[in-house]
Amino acid sequence: MKTILITGGTGLLGKGMEETAPAGWKIVSLHQRDYKVDDARAEHLVLDIREKKLVDELFAKYKFDAVIHAAGIASVDYVEKHYAESLESNLVGTLNVTSAARRAGVYLVYVSPNAVFDGNKAPYAESAKTNPVNKYGQIKLQCEKLVTETLERYAIMRPILMYGWNHPVTRPNTVTWIYEKLQRGETVELVDDVMENPLYNLQCGDALWAMVAKRPDGIFHVAGKDRCNRYQFGLKIAKAFGLDASLIKRVDSSRFPAIAARPPNTTLSVKRMEKELGVKAVLLADGLADMKKRMRIKA
Ligand SMILES: NC(=O)c1ccc[n+]([C@@H]2O[C@H](COP(=O)([O-])OP(=O)(O)OC[C@H]3O[C@@H](n4cnc5c(N)ncnc54)[C@H](OP(=O)(O)O)[C@@H]3O)[C@@H](O)[C@H]2O)c1
Repeated sequence: MKTILITGGTGLLGKGMEETAPAGWKIVSLHQRDYKVDDARAEHLVLDIREKKLVDELFAKYKFDAVIHAAGIASVDYVEKHYAESLESNLVGTLNVTSAARRAGVYLVYVSPNAVFDGNKAPYAESAKTNPVNKYGQIKLQCEKLVTETLERYAIMRPILMYGWNHPVTRPNTVTWIYEKLQRGETVELVDDVMENPLYNLQCGDALWAMVAKRPDGIFHVAGKDRCNRYQFGLKIAKAFGLDASLIKRVDSSRFPAIAARPPNTTLSVKRMEKELGVKAVLLADGLADMKKRMRIKA
């Protein structure tokens, strides 16, 4: 039995990885706030990665065969308003995790976002020039540099806007919040000038497990098959779940002046993912249909 550490394991990405885990792996999953996850698949621990001593003790206790480092503040708007706290969570936390991984000589995948790009030259290949337009993208790019300049055995995964069933304790995502609002009969305003290729969290889980198995180096972009703006995404969600699409109103980004700047089009190229990881980009309609199926099973 091999052991993997997933930092931020209760997030949407960590949940996707837990649900797609192959046999033969013991998962140690970290989160920060004090809650208990009822889940037999992983061992969930409460540990703040900003605390170097605790991270070092963890690596002394377990012999990890791989590390997925996904923990940190990942809300674009929260980071914009709480810069110092976000630096500690992302940059200090990453330094603590990468230092321990380096000393242990363990392969690490750092999870970064599409937000490292300015959104003016899509689709983006892994070699494309970075130029973040908000503080979240800037901090995550600093973390990427920290990883590439201090580790020998590593890769960077850059997923894009992710959707899927999240743990009830963690933040909702584009599908779950739109679904809940439409279910309650509330109007949803969605912008038509931010373009992505949304990623199902179970596809992201498959891609991470492929990286753990193949141990490639360098950067991997991971995204879904179809490109759409948020308004089109909303219409597909309404259709998939049989909800009232007339509640969805088309607006542009000028409607939300208080939020952090968003790059207009960060659609990612998935050629490297498909060729080297052997993971197929999932169609939005298929990802949404799978979510619906899983909801029925739970009901
Ligand atoms: N979601 C997306 O659309 C998306 C897109 C591109 C890239 N990414 C990247 O993917 C990664 C995971 O994102 P996500 O959406 O799955 O995250 P998420 O749902 O916001 O969850 C964040 C996770 O990190 C944990 N965490 C935060 N600060 C921590 C700390 N100081 N110590 C230990 N754990 C801490 C949280 O624990 P608590 O629940 O206890 O707070 C939670 O488990 C992030 O690095 C993000 O930048 C996400």
